[in-house]
Amino acid sequence: MKLLNFKHPPAYRVDPWRIIEDKFSPENNMLSETLFTVSNGYIGIRGSFEEGLFEHPDRTIGGIYLNGFFESVPIPHAERGYGFAQNTQTLLNVTDSKIIELYLDGERFSLGSGAILSFRRILNMKEGCQERKVVWKSPEGREVQITVTRLVPFKHRHLIVFNYQVIPLNFSGQITLRSSLDGNVDNHTHVEYDQRFSASLGDLRLQVSDIKLEDTGAVIIQETVRSQLAMACAMENRLKGGKLLKADTGRTDQQATTTFQLTANENEKITLLKYVAYFTSRDYPAEKIPDMALETVGKAQKIGFKSLCDEQKEHCKKYWDSAGVYLEGDPKAEQGLRFNLFHLLQASGSNGTTGIPAKGLTSEGYDGHYFWDTEIYMVPFFTSIKPEQARKLLEFRYSILDHARSRARELSHQKGALYPWRTIAGEEGSSYFPASTAQYHINAAIAFAMHRYIEISGDFSLMLDFGAEILFETARLWEDLGTYVPRKGNRFCYNEVTGPDEYSALVNNNCYTNLMAQWHLRYAYQTARYLQQNHPNEFSKLAKKIKLCEEELKAWQRAAEYMYIPYDEVMQIHPQDDGFLDKEVWDFKSTPADNYPLLLHYHPLVIYRFQVCKQPDVILAHLLLSERYSLEQKRRDYNYYEPITTHDSSLSPSIFSIVASELGYCEDAYQYFLMSARLDLENIMKVTHYGIHMANMAGSWMCLVSGFAGMRISEGSVSFNPYMPDNLKQYRFRIRVRGCLLEVIVRKRKARYKLLEGESISFAHQGTWVTLSEGETVNFKLAGQKQQINSH
Ligand code: BGC
Repeated sequence: MKLLNFKHPPAYRVDPWRIIEDKFSPENNMLSETLFTVSNGYIGIRGSFEEGLFEHPDRTIGGIYLNGFFESVPIPHAERGYGFAQNTQTLLNVTDSKIIELYLDGERFSLGSGAILSFRRILNMKEGCQERKVVWKSPEGREVQITVTRLVPFKHRHLIVFNYQVIPLNFSGQITLRSSLDGNVDNHTHVEYDQRFSASLGDLRLQVSDIKLEDTGAVIIQETVRSQLAMACAMENRLKGGKLLKADTGRTDQQATTTFQLTANENEKITLLKYVAYFTSRDYPAEKIPDMALETVGKAQKIGFKSLCDEQKEHCKKYWDSAGVYLEGDPKAEQGLRFNLFHLLQASGSNGTTGIPAKGLTSEGYDGHYFWDTEIYMVPFFTSIKPEQARKLLEFRYSILDHARSRARELSHQKGALYPWRTIAGEEGSSYFPASTAQYHINAAIAFAMHRYIEISGDFSLMLDFGAEILFETARLWEDLGTYVPRKGNRFCYNEVTGPDEYSALVNNNCYTNLMAQWHLRYAYQTARYLQQNHPNEFSKLAKKIKLCEEELKAWQRAAEYMYIPYDEVMQIHPQDDGFLDKEVWDFKSTPADNYPLLLHYHPLVIYRFQVCKQPDVILAHLLLSERYSLEQKRRDYNYYEPITTHDSSLSPSIFSIVASELGYCEDAYQYFLMSARLDLENIMKVTHYGIHMANMAGSWMCLVSGFAGMRISEGSVSFNPYMPDNLKQYRFRIRVRGCLLEVIVRKRKARYKLLEGESISFAHQGTWVTLSEGETVNFKLAGQKQQINSH
């Protein structure tokens, strides 16, 4: 299904380093709140307003989220089957710490009343903060300028800082500022039949267990009902400017508020600095967290706002320097790509105990769950930009290996591990097994990400420290799950599985699954042999621990060798699964545009009965196992699947773009890239108000690096095959490979590579091998600019 030629007016001003909203519109507000989220991977705060939006309560989700802090919510199955997931975990909207109310001679500031004389909400991607500047006229005519800067420091993961400045523009008078922590929070009820969204928590809302007041601050302690977790949120408020009349801190059952009453002269600047810290019992003993939170706000206040901003800028600068992304010729695409990279930076706070939710920490969509999105999309990105973050994300998978082992037992596997399709703390959180547990390919995604990480970073210690245990335990499951089928020439087959494409479920021999399982079994076998030879002590210790024997290794090898890979000799394409080509093709012509995504308009059984794909399946295998197939084969498969793919999943366009680049379908490649680069900024999926799409964000970077520049990694070596899309004049990026930082600049007729850091690097450009030493540059004429080939 072609989605080319989409045209959307830019909702936000095009600027290379900022996302700017110039006009406040309640209709657009929930979308903006998501886009303007600031986060450091541990805390995420939506871009909602300090004063609230009480005139439009249904136009705001004032969420603040702590990665990994969840409630365990029972899944209400009307008809429960054996082994169905019984609980899901829901990322909690925690204590609302952003509240700052402003009164001008008793008149309350709110964007829903009076007149907005000017408005700007800005996401500053260079400085790592969110800014807002409003000039407002009260109903009685008082004019005031309010400037707010919000920072979630990368270097201080528990902290949020608000710098709230007020200037009375046409009056002198009394100003009251009320800064609060509010424990009366809930998750938000969204469209209930859409599994992508979170549901209200009802009785399982976060409870307030204690509030302690300080002179100009407080700490509030909240507890979950079922998951038995506690959190503490502290604030410290500092006021500058004006003539203070009174400052006090009080409380209600669920709220603590520090109130400042002062007088100010016309044009005098008043600044309230609010420091907030969150700690939870997932990281520290519950009894210690209130003091830790208080200490943190105390220390932050000593460091001061300016230094915190400087640190933040420095952190962002390092990140942008190492990513080095620059596009000339298409400012919208460049802004989109940078926006995506900024959110990837904002999501990268894993310390080995948490992953990255599919929506980052920007909302409650998908309940804050981690999916295979991390391993197939985000880990390859981080491995090339922030390798230490990639490793932490894999370490997180190790931390939940025991859960994966238990899940495998529930699914009647006597050994091995089956990772949950969606989770926060390790338990399978999906109620609908056909599109979750049956996606066994999650195991291969984790193995694949480990392999990618080791190939690019060269850090084999991951395998010795914990990776081999994951790799072997997950490989075991593949061997146990499959069966040699006599009717298929005794080939090794997988029945009743679901591949990445969720518009088919519980099929036999999903092509992607079989290919990835085969790859996984081989990788596990080769790694075991390598360890036996090179790290015999480590290997035998592990083999003893998980009771791995020689026969099992041979069984892996045999299963891989005999793996059944569906292929249609007549059509010369890979069927997505055994029955796929027997189905009727979906009637796209008669499907109204409003009926997409199909999952919201048709029962799954209806969708499953047709040839229609939500996202790439065979095509994804062509990217991940790129060397395995000829260009002709990839072309035939692409030509077949592209017209029947709806891209109802945000994971789709980037993969099509990369493969289209490889095939010389430059127009498709660019259109899919644009869609991926601006997917959230233009709300293309229509649900960005419930959270951004993290996997796609990493995917858009891959469109540039693996698509336009044709980067592939094979056996630890990097190769490039760049071309210049017609819409661009130049593009540039940097990648980290085995401790080196390589810069790639592509212009219309030439490609230039420079080794910025590291002793030396060898790579191939369009088949020619080069070695560069630190500081060296090499230029190549672009051999044969890709010819546009029409896809159909
Ligand atoms: C996709 C999955 C993905 C999930 C979370 C679904 O729509 O089909 O592949 O893992 O979203 O992003």
